[in-house]
Amino acid sequence: MDIAKPQVVTSGLAAGMPALGFGVGLRSCHFEWLLENDLNQPADSPRPVDWFEIISENFIGNDGFAAWMLERLAERYPIVMHGVSMSIGSTDPLDIVYLDRLAELIERVNPVWVSDHICWTGIAGVNTHDLLPLPYTEESLTHVAERVLQVQERLKRPLVLENPSSYLQFAHSDMTEWEFIGELVARTDCGLLLDVNNVFVSAFNHNYDAETYIRALPHQQVVQMHLAGPTHCGTHIIDTHNTAVPRQVWALYQLAQKLCPDCPTLLEWDADIPDFPALVTELNKARDALAGQLPGHDLVYTGYSDSVVSTPLHYQMRGDNV
Ligand SMILES: [Fe+2]
Repeated sequence: MDIAKPQVVTSGLAAGMPALGFGVGLRSCHFEWLLENDLNQPADSPRPVDWFEIISENFIGNDGFAAWMLERLAERYPIVMHGVSMSIGSTDPLDIVYLDRLAELIERVNPVWVSDHICWTGIAGVNTHDLLPLPYTEESLTHVAERVLQVQERLKRPLVLENPSSYLQFAHSDMTEWEFIGELVARTDCGLLLDVNNVFVSAFNHNYDAETYIRALPHQQVVQMHLAGPTHCGTHIIDTHNTAVPRQVWALYQLAQKLCPDCPTLLEWDADIPDFPALVTELNKARDALAGQLPGHDLVYTGYSDSVVSTPLHYQMRGDNV
């Protein structure tokens, strides 16, 4: 992999955002550890991570213990909000009630930025709780760009959008995913959340080159990266978020960080979640990767898996609502 001549990001949305460092997704199973080992420490004590990302939907209308935990953590850590229900690509009208409740949460949390996904999650008022892929056409691009501008106007801030992982493509798409994203950014000035693992998953599933994808993005708009571990099912890879980050993803992360230096990094882990110290150990491999090492093991097919596609609301529906 040729990563000897990086671009330098000196303009765009990324240049105006703080270099948050290395963070993890806030999950309720870690509340007890954080209470006993972190939130009771002096304000200037060392911190296990640099920042947290929350799933917005888990905190909308939540005035319970989780909301109390978030308030305590926000006193000590930068918080970023990550949503899964905006459905920016749907042909349903934008959900104004959802956007207003999101705005209320933004007011409460004061996040560094707010993100969602380049996808649609439902139609005719039905939320599938999955992040479904879009056709990459001019018609779709015009539709999504108009809605991004409307959301940015309503939330009075740039929207940060994440590249999806996907398992099918539309036959009538006439541009690549990275061309669609580049044009979406050009028309809306939105930010990008580059999920390196999603690029790896989709590149395998659709047989395109992950490096080409990452090199083609508008790097000046990439304000955050995601890392996660997927599951190899032989003919396809599923974005399960239930295991360590594989070596192939670390290699792509090294390239992405060369192109988007000091981009804040977030480890996602949503099923078979390890304890907090083990999660931090995995996160810290990102520092090793930036130092030139290549952590982890190659992801290979090891047998059938019935792991679910990662959608945090699945866990909410199963009673793990934080
Ligand atoms: Fe992600």
